[in-house]
Amino acid sequence: MAQEDVFKKLIAHSKEYGYIFPSSEIYDGLGAVYDYGQYGVELKNNIKNYWWDSMVLLHENIVGLDSAIFMHPKIWEASGHVDAFNDPLIDNKDSKKRYRADILIEEYLQKIEAKINKEIIKASKRFGDVFNEKQFRETNPQVKQNQAKFNTIQQRYVAALETDDLKEIRQIILDCEIADPVSGSRNWTDVRKFNLMFETKFGSVSEEANSIYLRPETAQGIFVNFLNVQKSGRMKIPFGVAQTGKVFRNEIIARQFIFRMREFEQMEMQFFVRPGDEIKWYEYWKEKRMNWFKAFGIDENKLRFHEHDKLAHYANAAVDIEFDFPIGFKEIEGIHSRTDFDLAQHQKFSGKKLQYFDTETKESFVPFVVETSIGLDRTFLMILSNGYSEEKAPNAEGQLEDRVVLKIPPALAPVKLAVLPLVRKDGLPEIARKIIKELKFDFNCQYEEKDSIGRRYRRQDAIGTPYCITIDHQTVNDNTVTIRYRDSMKQDRVKIEKLREILSEKVNMRKLLEKID
Ligand code: GAP
Repeated sequence: MAQEDVFKKLIAHSKEYGYIFPSSEIYDGLGAVYDYGQYGVELKNNIKNYWWDSMVLLHENIVGLDSAIFMHPKIWEASGHVDAFNDPLIDNKDSKKRYRADILIEEYLQKIEAKINKEIIKASKRFGDVFNEKQFRETNPQVKQNQAKFNTIQQRYVAALETDDLKEIRQIILDCEIADPVSGSRNWTDVRKFNLMFETKFGSVSEEANSIYLRPETAQGIFVNFLNVQKSGRMKIPFGVAQTGKVFRNEIIARQFIFRMREFEQMEMQFFVRPGDEIKWYEYWKEKRMNWFKAFGIDENKLRFHEHDKLAHYANAAVDIEFDFPIGFKEIEGIHSRTDFDLAQHQKFSGKKLQYFDTETKESFVPFVVETSIGLDRTFLMILSNGYSEEKAPNAEGQLEDRVVLKIPPALAPVKLAVLPLVRKDGLPEIARKIIKELKFDFNCQYEEKDSIGRRYRRQDAIGTPYCITIDHQTVNDNTVTIRYRDSMKQDRVKIEKLREILSEKVNMRKLLEKID
């Protein structure tokens, strides 16, 4: 199946099974804004807890924070967001569609890279063990030509970004003959800058309200509370502050489901270190964060680091962790060495000292910061796209039929187990209810008695429930039930009193956390 079709199916599946709904749908929706349904909110909370625990629970020197969305407008001047939080936009004159000019070029570069990789994979299959990739890259005319093209465009692109040369960005689009992906037209406007922050009024209009911004990142709430946390918690450097929360960006394009939203959630951690130590900690967090993803059991080939072509105004090192979504490899988390930029700027703009006093060396200094910043919604999308699978499964008569299954890691799955009486009589529903009464304190359980057992299994597969407990007539006699595993569809017979222990072992968040500690 083409990857675009997978993406469309995922969107439809998310809606049909209560994961994600378009916002304000009965009013025809609101661009790039989504609501999380009954299962979506559970998965989202589980991911958030996993992230929070991996930071705050596992590290003695990381504490949490929940700062307000509304912040003093000067914060965004100090952070550089008022002047520099812009995207270059370009319109297609024929289709009237708007695009991010940088993304058009980056996607073009990715296509060239994909062509090169395709040639390499083909050749490695052809030559087997004796294949020498370096030699192949240096000698194959097609690969050499594409690599030269890639390098030339990338150099021009990075230079244009660094000098903020919007005319050159447009020229690259024209020279590469990049067409509107929807209409195929190459009739482009000039490139303009567009600030992504939402502005709103603070206070009532009659009081001559001031303009403020909805925060576009949670990080600044951590910076402006640096001393509050450090002093009240008597934190010693190095230490970190973690925060999750809603952020808002007026994104130019709104065509990628929850990948690019205008209201979304971030999970950020700022790690305050001694100046000069930042690259050591940057490397440390790079590895730690990559391991966090691998603990989900995601295929390593679907994850990669991507070094930034152009460093943000605040960073001296930056890397993205990218996941291979059905729309290609895309950023899911950024790890940035932000130097002392933010604290120094807030010191300057607020006139208040934001320094750390080292009691051992008797020195005061503005700490440097290493940041890990991950999108909760993108992590959600990663888990859905990684877990979505269309398969054939035998029905009660042994014939193969289609099943759609969401293979979500059990510790993160919204519903951990469904308890299903085989029939709606003979005391089976009563036993099922009794089991739920006992297990609901530990696990999110669901009771289902409607439809055939096969259809109920299909429904639970589609929701991503990892375990189905079936109560049948044997249960009445010997107090055993079957436990059916979502991914393998195998079944085991177990004692009811063992259920809690068996399930705890399987869905415990501790297992994921142990892998990354
Ligand atoms: N404090 C640094 C910062 O905000 P960022 O790369 O702009 O860095 C961090 O954002 C993460 O937030 C991204 O890696 C991505 O996962 C998520 N993110 C950014 N823009 C998003 C959007 N429009 N919709 C959903 N997630 C987004």
